[in-house]
Parts: sequence; C-alpha cells; structure tokens
Amino acid sequence: MAARMEADVCIRTKRDSREYTGQEITDEALQRILQAGRMAGSSKNTQPWHFIVLRDAARKAELAECGDFAKHVPAAPLVIAVVLTPGGGAFDAGRTAQNMMLAAWAEGITSCPVAMHHAEDARRVLGLPPDHRAAIVLSFGYPVSEESLHRGVARNPLAGIVHHERW
Ligand SMILES: Cc1cc2nc3c(=O)[nH]c(=O)nc-3n(C[C@H](O)[C@H](O)[C@H](O)COP(=O)(O)O)c2cc1C
Repeated sequence: MAARMEADVCIRTKRDSREYTGQEITDEALQRILQAGRMAGSSKNTQPWHFIVLRDAARKAELAECGDFAKHVPAAPLVIAVVLTPGGGAFDAGRTAQNMMLAAWAEGITSCPVAMHHAEDARRVLGLPPDHRAAIVLSFGYPVSEESLHRGVARNPLAGIVHHERW
C-alpha cells in the first residue's frame, strides 16, 4: 500500500478524475474504502445506505448507460453505487461518498462521482427494491498522470463565498 497522505493534503488535492490505469484495486484497499463509507455520520444515525460493488465489465457498462455523463465508468476497475434506503437524504449520501473517495485518495486511488440521470434504469440494473434509489455512483482507479487528475477548473475564492455573522 502506498504511504498515506496527511488529511489536509488529501482533502485539498482530491479532484474528480475520469481516466484510470488498468491497475486493479486490491480487496484490502476496497475494504478500507468501504469502511470509510460505513463510518460516515448520518441524520439521527440512520445510516441510510447500502453499497453495491461492481467489478464486472458488462455490469459496469450497463450502469454507465444510466447516466448522461458516465462514459468513463466502464474503464474504472472499481465502481461503487451508493444506494439510499427510504428516508435517506442527499446529505447522508454525500457524506458517505466523500468519505470513501477521500479514503481512496489517501492511498493514491482517484475517483469521480457519477449521477444516475435515468433513475429507473439504474434501479433495474442494480436490482434495487422499489423504495431504494442510487443516490450516486463512484468510479475508482489509479490515475494515468498528474494532468489527468482534474480539468484545471478553479474553485471560487473564499472571499467570494464566506460571510460573517449574516449574509
Ligand atoms: C452530485 C455530483 C454529481 C456528479 N456527476 C457527475 C457525472 O455524472 N459525470 C462526471 O463525469 N462527473 C460528475 N461529477 C463530478 C463533477 O463534475 C466535479 O465534482 C466537478 O467538475 C469538479 O471537478 P474537479 O474536482 O476535478 O475540479 C459530479 C459531482 C457531484 C458532486
């Protein structure tokens, strides 16, 4: 396993990348990623999530068809669908998803969240119960290069988004 990054470096350098080498992600690394997702806090500790791990090429290709911007998904060695149980909120899904992506990045595995624009198709492909939904799909893999890590789009400066005491 690669040396782990400091938390602040990990958070600041995590970008969403869509190009991966063919290197497989070990079961040990997968377990660390899933454990990080499991440990996320949630509203009233409801833990309203299940994780579906996809490694099969045909299944990944089928799932990619459920998103409008998911062309890179079949080439990812590891894909995890974050499924929300009834009552689960987007914020819960976001917390568990970011935990998994940061845990992966801490050991050099990059990732990208992918929206399922065709929710019913995603439900069918994943075999979900009718009251469950795929909140987000995460693609994981080792980056091909520094340049591939992100598209170079800057974040808004703090000066433009931070307010003190009130808007
Ligand atoms: C809720 C959500 C849905 C996203 N859906 C997609 C998607 O369907 N396909 C994709 O390629 N990227 C998707 N992204 C990734 C965004 O494009 C990315 O976070 C943003 O462009 C910043 O990228 P950067 O970290 O590389 O700067 C999604 C991100 C979020 C938070």
